[in-house]
Amino acid sequence: MKKALLTLTALALLATTAQARSWEEIKKSGTIKIATEGAFPPFNVVKGKELTGFEVDLANQLARQLGLKVQWVTQPFDSLLIGLQQDRYDFVIASHGITPERARAVDFSSPHYCTGGAVVSRVGGPKTAADLKGKTVAVQVGTTYLENVRKVPGIKEVKTFPKDTDAQAALMAGRVDAWVGDKFTGLDLVKAQKGKLAAGSLLFNERIGMAVRKGNAGLLKELNAALTKSLSDGSYAKLSGQYFGTDVRCR
Ligand code: ARG
Repeated sequence: MKKALLTLTALALLATTAQARSWEEIKKSGTIKIATEGAFPPFNVVKGKELTGFEVDLANQLARQLGLKVQWVTQPFDSLLIGLQQDRYDFVIASHGITPERARAVDFSSPHYCTGGAVVSRVGGPKTAADLKGKTVAVQVGTTYLENVRKVPGIKEVKTFPKDTDAQAALMAGRVDAWVGDKFTGLDLVKAQKGKLAAGSLLFNERIGMAVRKGNAGLLKELNAALTKSLSDGSYAKLSGQYFGTDVRCR
């Protein structure tokens, strides 16, 4: 908890120094640099050698609309917003929930989807927040799942993992009693492990946005305009349908 707070304070300090590429500079260069994790299916994931997922396809679609080529960067979830402050790329799309703490360090786009954090356990395991009492829970580090699980009273232990897929593996291996993660990821997980895992309840809701360097208003405006267009011309709906069988936009 202390460590997470320190990191965000450090981010807020960094936010006042370095200089992000302006929209004009990006446009002139013809290429936008986008960062994601690449280990968070079905949103951003490396499959074989290919970076894919709902957010990767969406960002590629937005860049195309802005007339830009894309250069992708993948790095651990935990360091994505720090790299943004160091101007290693122009924006981040990695399922970041729009929280007040993060919004102090970076600027968020309009939400590109809405979701929530849910419990998954082995069949017969804990399903609700109350059931988590006395139990061990796996979550990815640096996430809103960790933040929210810490608010549930009586949990025996929260185990953090650098990657969400490792937190899921801990559940399947029986090393923890429950996993808390994205509700759509949870649905896929339960489907893939049919008869072994069961979906529990939703612990919280969140709006997910893309992050730009604090103060990069020009880029933010272009990204939001491209997203609005995708939401209204059917391209967002088509993509969302492909990945989720439903439209995941915020309403
Ligand atoms: N939605 C959660 C959060 O805001 C988890 C995001 C994890 N993203 C990832 N690429 N692993 O913290």
